[in-house]
Amino acid sequence: KYLQEDSLSEECKELLSTLPKEKGWIGSYIYKYQGFWTSPRLIQGVIACQQQFQAQDTDIILVTTPKSGTTWLKSLLFALVNRTKHSVFEQNHPLLVKNPHILVPFLEHTLYVDGRVPDFSSFASPRLLATHVPFASLPKSIQDSETKLVYLCRNPRDTFISMWHFSNNLRLDHKDTNSIEEMFDLFCKGVSIYGPFWDHVLDYWKQSVENPNKVLFLMYEEMKENQKIQLKRLAEFLKCQFSIEEEKCGVVDEILKMCSFENLSNLEVNTNEKLSTGEGNKTFFRKGEIGDWKNYFTVEMSEKLNRITEEKFHGSGLKF
Ligand code: A3P
Repeated sequence: KYLQEDSLSEECKELLSTLPKEKGWIGSYIYKYQGFWTSPRLIQGVIACQQQFQAQDTDIILVTTPKSGTTWLKSLLFALVNRTKHSVFEQNHPLLVKNPHILVPFLEHTLYVDGRVPDFSSFASPRLLATHVPFASLPKSIQDSETKLVYLCRNPRDTFISMWHFSNNLRLDHKDTNSIEEMFDLFCKGVSIYGPFWDHVLDYWKQSVENPNKVLFLMYEEMKENQKIQLKRLAEFLKCQFSIEEEKCGVVDEILKMCSFENLSNLEVNTNEKLSTGEGNKTFFRKGEIGDWKNYFTVEMSEKLNRITEEKFHGSGLKF
């Protein structure tokens, strides 16, 4: 289903014929639209969302670079924001029976994909939504409203390894995988899903510096190493701080425990079910560790990626 392109409108097909294209990570090709690379279905989804999505001031939108821990952050956000409605001590908490991508849907991948017209009437306020779209290509209403943006990225080495595994996993259904060398070269050239990776990160980093009340910038590594501090930072940014009482009762720890890799990846829903867009839930849980790149990178690969990252982030204050 991920590769399915027969639902593309004539207009979109016409647009694609004018765009630069390169070998795809999952489907045959990815295309460069508004400066970033993505698949045909998602370009159609991005355009629909740019034209139709009306942000509300209370919306919370999670923006991530693909494979940076989106699934984890979705679960943390859901548990955090809804903790009055759904106590994290509940036996039948939604996160125990539904995949985080169902509870916090993607705009362009899910809600606006394949020409769908989303019905937001069942969404509780604040609405929790997600996207991978670069800042400059967000629907204008997101930029113009008080909508909060929570941004998550991850070091490019682990991001690459995770993306390579994920795309090969989806390609496997079609009995075909991509070599690490080939995909590494594409990643370094900026040709990755929603890449160039560095432009995506840098744009949101700048926005978070210029407008810290609008954009919170998080890193997977910091989240893993300082979970409690980062979760409290997130709560403060969203103006739903933990009370002293909640801290005493262990709510912070309970949220972290419920959303841990260990817990989520072993749930029945995340081992056996699929998303409506075709991906098996289990493909979103692989290792969940920092530094798996060391098991795959040659010295040359590591040096090359470091060099690019240093060049691109030079003077920005950003370090991975
Ligand atoms: P790895 O492939 O390195 O294991 P995304 O959700 O953006 O697609 O990112 C997927 C990555 O996040 C995968 O990384 C996955 O294992 C990891 N991940 C998923 N759930 C996690 C969790 N609860 N805690 C930490 N990492 C998690």
